[in-house]
Amino acid sequence: MKQLFRRKQYSAKDHSSGLLRVLGVWDIVFFGIAAIIGAGSFSSLGEAVFRGGPGVIVLYIICGFACGFTALCYAEFASRIPTAGSAYTYAYASFGEIMAWVIGWALIMEYSFGNIYVAFSWSDYFTSFIGRIGLHIPEYLTVSYPEAKKAFFGGSQNLELVNAWKNAPLLGNLKIILDIPALVINGLITWLVYVGVKESKNFNNIFVLLKLFIILLVIAVGIAFINTDNWFPVGTETGEASFMPNGFAGVMSAVSGVFFAYIGFDALSVLSEETKNPQKNLPRGMIISLVLCTVIYIILTLVLTGMVDYRRFEGVGDPLSFIFEKTNANVAWMEFVVSLGAIIAITTVLLVFQMGQPRIWYAMSRDGLMPKKFMEIHPKHSTPSFATIITGVVVGIPILFTDKSFILDFTSIGTIFAFVLVCGGVLLLPSKEKLPGRFHLPYINSQFIFPILFLGGLAFFYFWQPEFFHNLMDWKDPNEGEFRISMFFFLLINIGLCVLTLIKKLSLIPLMGLSSCLYLLTGMTHNNWFWFLVWFALGMIIYFGYGFRHSKLNRETNGGLN
Ligand code: ALA
Repeated sequence: MKQLFRRKQYSAKDHSSGLLRVLGVWDIVFFGIAAIIGAGSFSSLGEAVFRGGPGVIVLYIICGFACGFTALCYAEFASRIPTAGSAYTYAYASFGEIMAWVIGWALIMEYSFGNIYVAFSWSDYFTSFIGRIGLHIPEYLTVSYPEAKKAFFGGSQNLELVNAWKNAPLLGNLKIILDIPALVINGLITWLVYVGVKESKNFNNIFVLLKLFIILLVIAVGIAFINTDNWFPVGTETGEASFMPNGFAGVMSAVSGVFFAYIGFDALSVLSEETKNPQKNLPRGMIISLVLCTVIYIILTLVLTGMVDYRRFEGVGDPLSFIFEKTNANVAWMEFVVSLGAIIAITTVLLVFQMGQPRIWYAMSRDGLMPKKFMEIHPKHSTPSFATIITGVVVGIPILFTDKSFILDFTSIGTIFAFVLVCGGVLLLPSKEKLPGRFHLPYINSQFIFPILFLGGLAFFYFWQPEFFHNLMDWKDPNEGEFRISMFFFLLINIGLCVLTLIKKLSLIPLMGLSSCLYLLTGMTHNNWFWFLVWFALGMIIYFGYGFRHSKLNRETNGGLN
């Protein structure tokens, strides 16, 4: 048992003291926007709006808070370990091997599976762009099989998907439907990462400006087309005009898409070694970038839902150009500019994620938790070549047989789970010596504040959304408009946390991070939980079948080196 919690000691030679402290607060903000804004704002916003209506902005605010607290916890973690790294590295040093493995396994969901979604959304914009310049690829070669099937049999209004199913050629009994652009871009990016494309700060800055420019342009041009009646559509079931036409349950069912738009800020914590005065600049930079992104998402949502009825966003993967289509605002040049800009902007997100994944595998392999092959470095290109190819395969194969919404849910549940572990983990860290020039999470005693906030929030919801508390023990899905057993567990765990903090005076920031991330998990469907548990079980099998025995720490202990 003790073996499972063996910790890695990072020695002075791991210390990345060679890094220069050059980054100021606005550099952090720039990096933040580079990492955060991508397919979430260019694509998943469409589905989020379809599910929650204009009221989905409430969820953007909730996610912004949850991510803000989590970001500070990441920074605390980063400042404890004298080496730059990911949550995997921090967990290995603080909580031991099994936790590090679980987090590393969840990070694979964040990076690799996240990139499957990003590749799908790249394909959506690419297809719509070439369509505008007069080139047409048959629909069945631009969408995924399960998505077309679901749309056809579910009576979807999305003609692209329905036509793909209707017109697809047959191979025996199998319809040939596959997303060629998504496959091609994945192959291309894998190749670029394999040959060692260099991350360049200058390029990064140009792409950030491009992303911001497109989004601001959409807002500036779109505002003129807003019809404020669209902000209070008449709910199909309720028959009443409402900002949340599908109720709060509808808003919560959009959690994966909304949360996905925030993924990436966790990468900022690794900059702590390169930040001037990190105690001040790191949290400020992270919070400013999260606030900016939240404001951008809220305004974008208002523009989208003001321009076009929220119901029309069903299955729309390129919402920012969709709103300017002929049947909507009919601004042809905007369709063109937005699609082109989105293709470039989304490509950079693909590149960053595809570069991140092999490096996590590399670290796991170096620690003996993955086969040695994963740390193989290409003699000419100096890149983790095998791990890069495997990343390409892990991203590429599911493109053939998964659909966007499944992947979105899967990525989000895995990442939120990793955040829960990080926030919960920070609560367990012993207090540390305060060293000048390092970031320290401010301690705020939550003994009374947390129970007051929790009970206050509960009372507020009780009056605002009474149905929130109905049928808590039901197994129904949030998509069916009912809150269910996960909400029951959320309440139970939070009551436990209230009692714990009354006794132990826990630190408020990680506690709020933990509680808000747990809340986001209540929006996940049972199907998401099922697949997440399958993934988790697979991770455990690999760990106990391979990692546990091959771990470098295991070998050192048995060899008496420790
Ligand atoms: N937040 C990143 C994006 O939206 C993952 O693409």
